[in-house]
Amino acid sequence: MSKDFYLMENSNRSSNLSIHDVSSPSRRQILRGGLGALASSFLAPLSAVGGAAALTGCASLGMAAAAKIGFKSVAISTADTITVPEGYSAHVIAPWGDPVGIAGQNYAFKDDASNTASEQEAQIGMHHDGMHYYPLEGSKRGLLAINHEYVDHGLLFTDGMANWSAEKVRKSQAAHGVSIIEVQDKGGKWEVVSASKYARRVTTNTRTELSGPVAGHALMKTAADPAGRVVMGTLNNCASGITPWGTYLTAEENFISYFNGGEKVSEHEKRWGLRKGGAGYRWHEHDARFDATQNPNEPNRFGWIVEIDPSNPSAAPMKRTAMGRGAHEGATVAVTKDKRAVVYMGEDARFEYIYKFVSRDAIKPGGAAANATLLDHGTLYVAKFNADGKGQWIALTHGQGPLTAANGFADQAEVLVKSRQASDVLGATKMDRPEWIAVDQQGWVYATLTNNSNRGGDMQPAVDAANPRASNTQGNIIRWKEDVDFNAVTFAWNHFIMAGDTTLARTEAKGSIKGDMFSCPDGLWVDGRGLMWIQCDMSTSAMGKGDLKNFGNNMMLAADVTTGEARRFLVGPAGCEITGVTETPDGKTMFLNVQHPGEPASEQNNPANPRAISNWPEQKPNGRPRSATVVVRKLDGGIIGT
Ligand code: FEO
Ligand code: CA
Ligand code: CA
Ligand code: CA
Repeated sequence: MSKDFYLMENSNRSSNLSIHDVSSPSRRQILRGGLGALASSFLAPLSAVGGAAALTGCASLGMAAAAKIGFKSVAISTADTITVPEGYSAHVIAPWGDPVGIAGQNYAFKDDASNTASEQEAQIGMHHDGMHYYPLEGSKRGLLAINHEYVDHGLLFTDGMANWSAEKVRKSQAAHGVSIIEVQDKGGKWEVVSASKYARRVTTNTRTELSGPVAGHALMKTAADPAGRVVMGTLNNCASGITPWGTYLTAEENFISYFNGGEKVSEHEKRWGLRKGGAGYRWHEHDARFDATQNPNEPNRFGWIVEIDPSNPSAAPMKRTAMGRGAHEGATVAVTKDKRAVVYMGEDARFEYIYKFVSRDAIKPGGAAANATLLDHGTLYVAKFNADGKGQWIALTHGQGPLTAANGFADQAEVLVKSRQASDVLGATKMDRPEWIAVDQQGWVYATLTNNSNRGGDMQPAVDAANPRASNTQGNIIRWKEDVDFNAVTFAWNHFIMAGDTTLARTEAKGSIKGDMFSCPDGLWVDGRGLMWIQCDMSTSAMGKGDLKNFGNNMMLAADVTTGEARRFLVGPAGCEITGVTETPDGKTMFLNVQHPGEPASEQNNPANPRAISNWPEQKPNGRPRSATVVVRKLDGGIIGT
């Protein structure tokens, strides 16, 4: 049910330029410093949770030559299993419904999905997405923070959406959010620690604080929270990010789909996609918070980047409003030479934008406590990609340019709540669904543009240089390098890979891939050795047909950032998406997530036959498909991918 919200589009054609030429940027100055320089002196108490090793996966500019791909590629597959290269093993941990490991609350998963809402509040959530490993003892024991993006009610309940009740809504909310679990390598096999002092669930009912310029603003005030400072929980937690001070960033993506709108919606609500009934979650029937006709400001309290300290289970998650509101895919952190945090964010919806936030202050030594307000002060920018291979970051700053009261932006808080409207009037570039963003060791910043079949259609924005395909069924990876440093307001960009099936006749569906073909890139990460990992999310409603007929199940590939060569590393089970990836600091254990195995059967909420497409991972006759984390290792104990 969430899928149609990925396809939401901007009904509001703005006056963006249509641009057609693509040119390559000249080589830029290699960025120096960056996160790598912070490793020894600034990394604090993830302290307790792991020091410099916690940097794995953050934007680090180690200046080392990027790692080369060193495995034999796997074939395309439609099997209901995980396929990894020769010499590798894969096993499952932390499937939806297993206990997270809170002492005294280790409720076993019931195959018929009859666990209660209270039990689900102590169990792993559904539909895993972004994830990060935080070392406790290096590469042997650590914490995994795991996002749970959405749910399929046909899987979550024995009888699906029949007999809809407040208890069912509470269980649905409990299966969203984030899990913090402790994992350890026990004699060569990773497992979840069953009584961990760190184990935690953050759900759509966890007390969460608003911070930054929008906290306390009139647009945040509700009957339940007249001060406009406390929100109950988070939802649709898609991709993730990590900070150099050891915290976790989780992005609230398609939040509007949970809200019921009225017969008529305001221009503001329309721009954010509010509609009657939302996407059919039906929470509003038993929780008035999600009925925007009764609580019109509640949707304004979602769509934020939420910061969580995994080492402190009692700390409230913080919604960092200075970074703007959006259907955020993720939040990827880089660090400037003067040690300011730069956070890259894409908004995954058709014709939405790419943003970056630059903190006002430098990162301080002392971990999460010392940087508790770092993300509350700074400047938010939106990207404009010009046809000449250059680009600008345009500030979303109240009082500058058109961002004035006369144009509907009373103050900075209103600019941040209405970031889409602000980007429209600033003339930023409307992108083909920006998903994950990653930074390599040379300072290139990459964003997956997963697809946009509406591009160039009737009454839709035309192709432009950065989004050059009409009916973009295949997606692409764009990249840019900032002029001088990550806080620059100008950059140079080019296309890294145009995804697609090289055997297709239609020119715009053919890729420019060197190596193994793939489609619809979504998850993206550059590991500690500089190897890029690309995860695919072909829509299961389009999979195996049309332009996607030759790809089989969703997959993950490695790519060499210096040559652009892509090689298929893993194929997932039937009806899944592969999303979320992290490694131990030694690079010898990779964790990745399998999301929504069995879709679309599960999405049709068919409790009578939840295993029609997939019964992964357990293949139990009475079981049901379960999103889960997969642990990948090399049989010889070597480094993954190289
Ligand atoms: Fe949650 Fe855009 O993927
Ligand atoms: Ca995604
Ligand atoms: Ca996607
Ligand atoms: Ca997804």
